[in-house]
Amino acid sequence: MIVLGLETSCDETAAAVVDGDGNVLAHAVLSQMDEHAVFGGIVPEVAARAHLAHLDRLIAKAMREAKVGFADLDAVGATAGPGLIGGVLVGVMSAKAIAAVHKIPFIAVNHLEGHALTARLSDKVGFPFLLLLVSGGHCQLLAVEGVGKYRRLGTTVDDAAGEAFDKVAKMIGLGYPGGPAIERAAKSGDAARFAFARPMKGRPGCDFSFSGLKTAVRVAVESLPPGPLSDKDVNDLAASFQAAAVESVGDRVRRALKTFSEAYEGRSLVVAGGVAANTALRAELEKRARTAGFAFVAPPLALCTDNAVMIAWAALERFKRGLTDGLDFQARPRWPLDPSAPPARGAGVKA
Ligand code: KG4
Ligand code: ZN
Repeated sequence: MIVLGLETSCDETAAAVVDGDGNVLAHAVLSQMDEHAVFGGIVPEVAARAHLAHLDRLIAKAMREAKVGFADLDAVGATAGPGLIGGVLVGVMSAKAIAAVHKIPFIAVNHLEGHALTARLSDKVGFPFLLLLVSGGHCQLLAVEGVGKYRRLGTTVDDAAGEAFDKVAKMIGLGYPGGPAIERAAKSGDAARFAFARPMKGRPGCDFSFSGLKTAVRVAVESLPPGPLSDKDVNDLAASFQAAAVESVGDRVRRALKTFSEAYEGRSLVVAGGVAANTALRAELEKRARTAGFAFVAPPLALCTDNAVMIAWAALERFKRGLTDGLDFQARPRWPLDPSAPPARGAGVKA
């Protein structure tokens, strides 16, 4: 069984070929980071045009690398949402065209399901498991019961975690993307200098919030003497912010571990999404998992950030269960994994 997967929902154009046993035959990713860095963030129109310009070439590259032709494919999957709709349409239309011409099934993949099922490819994790999805666009805790079966335990009521890292980085003069820059600066900073509150800590439920923390950083910046921030100020702000964000996430995860273990047999905590690259967060999650008697699973970084291997794999998981889609499937800018979960409120909420 061989499946081609396409990912175009954000600022990475990606194509990958994966087989039914989870062997990655090709993995091509093109980051648009440089195109967006000049604007200090992702510009949807720029992203859509870049996907359009590069996707064909990337598909050809992946097929070459995998040493397969279109006739060898059993199915083609593409991210059909949630995400920036202009980009999503580019991937969906390409996949539908391949499916129509080569008479193979098309599979509409939920980008979040791609992230969610990656640990089954990388670490053979069985259902059910607890998932923390932390990226630039999402911050959710989900019980993953099976393919297409999710129960949301918590979500952000305002910003996503990665978004908070990016915005704080911008505020203190670090570049885009902000997450890695904050982590680097934090290494030489004093996390105790600014006593930021830990958002949501001790509150019932498993929801997240980051906008108050973001405001607290801005207030701290404004309280410093006028003029450019010193390196020490930047490092201390980064370290203090990161410590607060990590502790806040840790507290939410602690609650989710308890809720999950009361309802399910599974004992794995899986992390996915770009923020999972953060070493301090990983250490915190590992500690929380160990305390709760859970295994901690973090797929390799290249599979945590946006990629098409996860889309090809999610497509395979669906294909194996007979879940394919018609060519009339409409791309969805919003597409919650757990449609029964109440919509979160607040500015910036995306899912
Ligand atoms: O999953 P991803 O590649 O793209 C989506 O948002 O879907 O995640 C990107 C996010 C960005 O907000 C970036 O700042 C954050 O992940 N990030 C990090 C780190 N590396 C990337 N955040 C904190 N620490 C990091 N080391
Ligand atoms: Zn993502």
